[in-house]
Amino acid sequence: MNSIIITIDGPAASGKGSLSKKISLDFNLYYLETGIYYRALASLFNSKKDSYSELPAFLANLSKTQFKAFVINNDKNLYTSKITTLASKFAKILDIRRFILSIQQDSINSLDEKFNGIILEGRDCGTVIAPEANVKIFLTSHIEIRAKRRFNQFTKDGKNISYKKVLNDLKERDMQDQNRKHSPLQIPKDAIILDNSNYNLEETINIVKNIIFSNIPSLKNKI
Ligand code: DC
Repeated sequence: MNSIIITIDGPAASGKGSLSKKISLDFNLYYLETGIYYRALASLFNSKKDSYSELPAFLANLSKTQFKAFVINNDKNLYTSKITTLASKFAKILDIRRFILSIQQDSINSLDEKFNGIILEGRDCGTVIAPEANVKIFLTSHIEIRAKRRFNQFTKDGKNISYKKVLNDLKERDMQDQNRKHSPLQIPKDAIILDNSNYNLEETINIVKNIIFSNIPSLKNKI
């Protein structure tokens, strides 16, 4: 497969999503938001089952096709705090990670030729999903800056939540992401680390574009 693969990993609220979306549009790359799969699985389970003990049977009966359709038709409900917490729990379970990993790797292998390649963002993109990626970036920023950005977004969306709660939730999610046994959040060994604590989104996008161009000069002729 000749197409370009770019991975953006990093902790929650580091700006991976907005960055990856913009890069995908400007560089004609397919955008794979990997966290949505954990959220979708949590949401589907939550809507169908009452008890955690039903999880093995639920997974055994879940078809990839049915699940992919659910992910594609996702809505804002995937971002409620209940689903966020459950997704974080589900992301620790090996059978769930295996199920989701195979779907995400299928997306890389069956990429539509109209795209120049794919950009993936999440926690294990450069380490597990696509270790062969052409460019790997680890995007991070100071936890208080991430909390402030997320708090400002919630306030803008009319959500009633305190800064302290946002900060504590992020600390908890960092802990879960970094300390789980299977595919924890790690800096891929060949990644470029970008701390964007002092950069806004536009500046971050420009830095990342320059990193991509310097690693894949041929991309300039494709856009
Ligand atoms: O990026 P996000 O907040 O939407 O991710 C939701 C959950 O999924 C979060 O708990 C981390 C987990 N996740 C993961 O384990 N691996 C990924 N590649 C992406 C997300």
